[in-house]
Amino acid sequence: MYACFLVWLVAVSKFKSVHDIKSCYDAGQRNFGENYIKELVEKSYQLPSDIMWHFIGTFQSNKAKSLAGILNFFVWETCSSVKHAISIDQALRDNPNRKQPLKVFVQVNTSGEKAKGGCAVKDCKDVVEYVLRHSHKLQFSGLMTIGRDYGSTLSADNEDFLLLLELRREICTELGLDSSTVELSMGMSSDFEHAIKLGSTNVRVGSLIFGSR
Ligand SMILES: *Cc1c(COP(=O)(O)O)cnc(C)c1O
Ligand SMILES: *[C@@H]1O[C@H](CO)[C@@H](O)[C@H](O)[C@H]1NC(C)=O
Repeated sequence: MYACFLVWLVAVSKFKSVHDIKSCYDAGQRNFGENYIKELVEKSYQLPSDIMWHFIGTFQSNKAKSLAGILNFFVWETCSSVKHAISIDQALRDNPNRKQPLKVFVQVNTSGEKAKGGCAVKDCKDVVEYVLRHSHKLQFSGLMTIGRDYGSTLSADNEDFLLLLELRREICTELGLDSSTVELSMGMSSDFEHAIKLGSTNVRVGSLIFGSR
């Protein structure tokens, strides 16, 4: 049986021009994802203010202020530690023009690969709990993973996606949350359909929309 969810499509526009993003916007797309804070800040000033920006890159505390300064910064998908959550929460509180809360996904390093960001599986609950119970301007949205790149070798369900689903179940039990209210951000160009089948509610698609980088 399949549950019926709304799935957000995030158009990942890193390294793509403002002109390309505007074409996509004109076709109706509103959610865009960027990996680099400087690039996101520059693009946000040149593009319409009703874009919903997702930050999907590695966070650096010394850039929290510039991120928090983007009024249509809508979703932070890569929150990996309590320390980072505190730093962006404080920066949002320091910006008097920022009214709405920032949606936050806690990123989990599900594959245990060196290059994949995110908190360790065992630390995930603490980060979620901080965002949920102790932050001021952050709104807990769900869990995010990049996962291993299985390429065309994938013959069964993606292990990282299954792990994220299992982690959501555990965290919802431990924190008393209804799992239908906790989103999952997983799936990119090569595997977004598979991710949606497994329950993703937020897919991040770059090259399939904009061409290779
Ligand atoms: C670049 C990137 C994507 C998009 O990847 P594609 O394979 O081009 O769809 C998605 N998520 C993250 C975190 C990325 O860095
Ligand atoms: C991901 O997890 C593994 C195993 O815990 C760790 O060795 C690796 O450094 C982590 N990656 C990052 C970017 O922290």
